[in-house]
Amino acid sequence: MKEELINKAKEAMNLSYSPYSHFKVGAALETTGGEIYVGTNIENASYPLCMCAERNALYNAYCHGVKKEDITTLVVIGETDEPISPCGACRQVMSELLSKDCVIVLCNTKGEVKETRIDELLPSSFKGEDLK
Ligand code: THU
Repeated sequence: MKEELINKAKEAMNLSYSPYSHFKVGAALETTGGEIYVGTNIENASYPLCMCAERNALYNAYCHGVKKEDITTLVVIGETDEPISPCGACRQVMSELLSKDCVIVLCNTKGEVKETRIDELLPSSFKGEDLK
C-alpha cells in the first residue's frame, strides 16, 4: 500500500547521514512480491562521494537480486516546499533500473504527493542500446 511505502521512506529519511547539507532524503521501493527496500542519502567530506537516497534504495534492491520488472513503486521524500524533485543523476539511474510502468511517488513532509513515471522525469534519456 502506498501509505505504508511512504512511511518506510519517511523512516529511512530519519537515518540520513547528511552532516554537510543537513538535508535529509528518504526513499523506499516495493516489488511485485511485496518486499520493500529503502535508502537514504549518505554524504562524505569529499562532496562528490555523496549518494542520494533514491539511488541507494535502487542499489540496495539490486544487491538483493531485484530486477527492474519486479519494482512496482518508488517513493522519494524530503522536506521540500513542493514534492521533492530527484536530481539528474538519479533520473538517469532510474531510467536504467526502473521499468517505464513503475510508479514514482514524489513526496514532501507536508503530505503533498505527486505521482509520475520515469519517461516524464527524463524524456529522451541516454540508453544502453545507444552504445551498440
Ligand atoms: N539528495 C537526495 O538524496 N535525493 C534527491 O533527490 C536530491 C538530493 C541529497 C543529496 C545530498 O546528500 C543532499 O540531498 C543535498 O543535495
